[in-house]
Amino acid sequence: MSLIDSVNKRNIPDHIAIIMDGNGRWAKQRGTQRIFGHRNGVSAVRAAIEASAELGVKYLTLYAFSTENWNRPKIEIDALMSLLINTINTETETLIKNNIALKTIGDTQSLPKAVQKKLGEVIEKSSKCTGLTVILALSYSSRWEITNAAKRLVKDYTEKRISMEDVTEEKFSSYMTTQGIPDPDLMIRTSGEFRISNFLLWQLAYSEFYFTSTLWPDFDKEELYKAIIDYQKRERRFGKISEQL
Ligand code: IPE
Ligand code: IPE
Ligand code: MG
Repeated sequence: MSLIDSVNKRNIPDHIAIIMDGNGRWAKQRGTQRIFGHRNGVSAVRAAIEASAELGVKYLTLYAFSTENWNRPKIEIDALMSLLINTINTETETLIKNNIALKTIGDTQSLPKAVQKKLGEVIEKSSKCTGLTVILALSYSSRWEITNAAKRLVKDYTEKRISMEDVTEEKFSSYMTTQGIPDPDLMIRTSGEFRISNFLLWQLAYSEFYFTSTLWPDFDKEELYKAIIDYQKRERRFGKISEQL
């Protein structure tokens, strides 16, 4: 029996963000190299995208590589970048066929040129797709994003494109790399870690959090349904009291 029957189709989160963690430990448990875990993580990515598209989720943000991940051994970074290129090569057609658009957030200019080129191609090719939008967080960290937003805002102020009165929460949000994308309703982290590791600090202000000990390569459609069912039991009060909702 699938948990999909227990998902309330009228209360699907518009935006799900996932910290896909635990690939290394998954590989270690099997006595293999870390990259083997990353490779197996790709099928979990596919499952999360498919399930999200089927349920009518509008945005799915996947934390794929953090700014801090640049501090990993070069051999692992290189392997992750190659895996990204290979995955784009094999999956682009399926994305387009399923009307799925791809976007990125983060300091993508710091990625290797070949990766930037591949990403540019798939973003362009999928730009007219109107179904699910998949947002890959690459070379992303929230403090980088907020600092970068502040810098650009100061520049616009100095060059007189905006005034002090223009600076509202909405305006500030428009300087983020997530500009135009609604805040996540649900944030999931796998692998049993209870932290957000510099992910969407601004945007997660009122998101519901779901933590699971499942390692990312084992995260399948049923695991996503489980997270959504849990989310659907929550009361999102946004500061109000129950009776006001
Ligand atoms: C998540 O898995 C993938 C990336 C951060 C790129 P990890 O590689 O962090 O796996 P663990 O946490 O070491 O198990
Ligand atoms: C967070 O996972 C980043 C990604 C999932 C891409 P990490 O494994 O890098 O996070 P920490 O170091 O355990 O906090
Ligand atoms: Mg990790």
